[in-house]
Amino acid sequence: MIQLHTPVLLKESADYLVTKKDGVYFEGTLGFGGHTQEILNRLSNKGSVVSTDVDQSAFDFCKEKFKAENRVKLYKFNFSLIDVLAKIESLEFFDGILADLGVSSFQLESAAAGFSYSKQSELDLRLDKSLRKTAADFINQETEEKIANVIFEFGEEKNSRKIARHISVARKNKKIQSTDELKKIISSVTNPKYLTKTLSRVFQALRIYVNDELGILKSFLENSVPLLNIGGRLVVISYHSLEDRIVKEFFKYESLNCICPPDAPICTCGKVKRLKIITKKPIVPPESEIKSNNRSRSAKLRVAERV
Ligand SMILES: C[S@@+](CC[C@H](N)C(=O)[O-])C[C@H]1O[C@@H](n2cnc3c(N)ncnc32)[C@H](O)[C@@H]1O
Repeated sequence: MIQLHTPVLLKESADYLVTKKDGVYFEGTLGFGGHTQEILNRLSNKGSVVSTDVDQSAFDFCKEKFKAENRVKLYKFNFSLIDVLAKIESLEFFDGILADLGVSSFQLESAAAGFSYSKQSELDLRLDKSLRKTAADFINQETEEKIANVIFEFGEEKNSRKIARHISVARKNKKIQSTDELKKIISSVTNPKYLTKTLSRVFQALRIYVNDELGILKSFLENSVPLLNIGGRLVVISYHSLEDRIVKEFFKYESLNCICPPDAPICTCGKVKRLKIITKKPIVPPESEIKSNNRSRSAKLRVAERV
């Protein structure tokens, strides 16, 4: 049986996020509603949550799950469009904003979703099925150099050139359409000792690229800050170093009052500090959580507060 999803750093993220019982919160990555439910548990009857996900199955599941709950508004929307959602809901500010990035266990484990190299399925990897290009389109249509760059940049895979070369040769004979076909090509050029890690890196790279996950994360962070009430918190859980670096650097930049060169006699940059960093170091799951939910092992939680 496929497990839907076990929410990661549930208590820790809600402890940081929910500072007002009557507040209005935004959860950008609804999934199977674990974090949304935890936020609701901490709110009074006057509090509310706007939650969104791009995945149709997650959205449909939560429509049913929360059908008797009038404090939650659900959308099938990209979280980077938080500003549009605020307008639709006639909201000027949120009291807290949460994103639990990446994919759910259900998305990883369900063959239909096509996110995992361990499941035989179409090479799709789109979170939002209305996006035009699948991973198969990318692999079959892009130049060898572009494929190598994507695998290197988003998967941090050292063998990217060799893998891209073999993809480019294989696709001349037959279009690469399934996760299995891609897996075979990667296996043919990878030392079996490193195969699992290499497959994860390549599939991660393709997923990040197809869904523009890093670009979307940057827009989400940028659009979120002006929508936070003073004292409201931006809470982000990330699952790999590329995401975590973006969050860390964004928080650092937004917490600076001045970006003039250190030797400048007076400040001329006009930079305004918008955030205070609450978690100097990222919060990681305790051993007990990693033991019971192995997927949580790479999670990092960062929090900043609107000033
Ligand atoms: C780690 S899961 C969230 C799990 C959820 N917190 C729970 O407890 O059930 C991440 C979810 O974010 C969704 N997602 C990823 N990128 C998104 C985006 N740009 N906009 C909206 N949802 C997104 C995925 O479809 C997935 O359902």
